[in-house]
Amino acid sequence: MRSFVARLILLMLMHVAFVRAAEIDPAVMEVGRVQFMMCAACHGKEGEGTAAAPPLAGSEWVGGGAENLIRIQLRGLRGPITVKGREYDIAGGMAPMAYQRDEQIAAVLTYVRQSFGNDAPPVQASEVAALRGEVGKPQLTVADLVPHGQAAPAAVATPSNKYANLDEGESFPRWVVIGIIVALLAGVGLWLAKSK
Ligand code: HEC
Repeated sequence: MRSFVARLILLMLMHVAFVRAAEIDPAVMEVGRVQFMMCAACHGKEGEGTAAAPPLAGSEWVGGGAENLIRIQLRGLRGPITVKGREYDIAGGMAPMAYQRDEQIAAVLTYVRQSFGNDAPPVQASEVAALRGEVGKPQLTVADLVPHGQAAPAAVATPSNKYANLDEGESFPRWVVIGIIVALLAGVGLWLAKSK
């Protein structure tokens, strides 16, 4: 009985550890929040949209493939574009913002995808790096984007939300800590199981 309880506790603790690891790194969200100030100038503080730009909150583009978002930021975008059933064609469109580092672009897009009621997988710096070749090309139009009805590109771009944080150098120490805790708990569990 004691061994059963020990195993059960061990399983529960391991579950908690893995669920925690699947969350978005708060440090990434903080970098994203700061970078978002620039987007907010046009898209609004809560991504609600303004006269200068369509909304990001609830936008099907934001919830769609990460590739679209990365390319929009690297090349800019000009309308017309339909967002939440309304067509926008704002003079000048959106200028490219390619000067930010890969990590900053990944962070701001992750922030947008995880804020204002949006809930889409994080964007990795490696995905931004892979699209750097887009920089300097003309502003995108909707025809250049992957139709957001197709879910597949998003899934391909971010195959595993759960271990996505492993790519980020900063979150590595957290994994070490979680690993040590899990190993310690496993040890205690085994010890409890043996000494029944
Ligand atoms: C100078 C104003 C401006 C800034 C700053 C800006 N955008 Fe935009 N953005 C636009 C406009 C305008 C459009 C729509 C194109 C059009 O109407 O011509 C757009 C469209 C978009 C779209 C696709 C449509 C939608 O609403 O989902 C995304 C995604 C987007 N922007 C993300 C961002 C992000 C992320 C940032 C910050 C890194 C940002 N934008 C900064 C003006 C801006």
